[in-house]
Amino acid sequence: MQMKILIIHGPNINILGRRDKSVYGNFTYEELNNLIYEKSRELGFEVDIFHSNCEGQIIDKLHQVMDADIDGIIINPGAYTHYSIAIRDAIEVLKIPVIEVHLSNVFGREDFREKSVTAPVCTGQISGFGVNSYILALEYFKLMNL
Ligand code: DQA
Repeated sequence: MQMKILIIHGPNINILGRRDKSVYGNFTYEELNNLIYEKSRELGFEVDIFHSNCEGQIIDKLHQVMDADIDGIIINPGAYTHYSIAIRDAIEVLKIPVIEVHLSNVFGREDFREKSVTAPVCTGQISGFGVNSYILALEYFKLMNL
């Protein structure tokens, strides 16, 4: 059975390529998604990519997962990582593995980025590897599925 992975991109991830390249790298949002599609194909996963700049829409998407046939989630909650208790509560309910990813190393930047309110209810967090943070998360799902 093919594994089904949902990618959730939070606020401002859609303008990747226009954000500070020294922090977020050179990839555009489209290139990031193409890389995710390519890697998922290689690993034999079915992947669905969702983006929203709105907290409520991300929560609605997480709620849909409760009744959907999805095996795992990779989420980059963007700045919501640092303060959205509502997204945290929606993740906490899920029974499938959720990996939090960040392009930048959130521990090497401003103090307010060091705190993730969402990571404690995720299976784990991958931070600081640019677009490869997503690739490493996909690789985790492959290892988990062996
Ligand atoms: C980010 C890190 C967050 O602190 C920031 O607000 C983002 C992107 C990352 O992928 O590095 O928008 O989640």
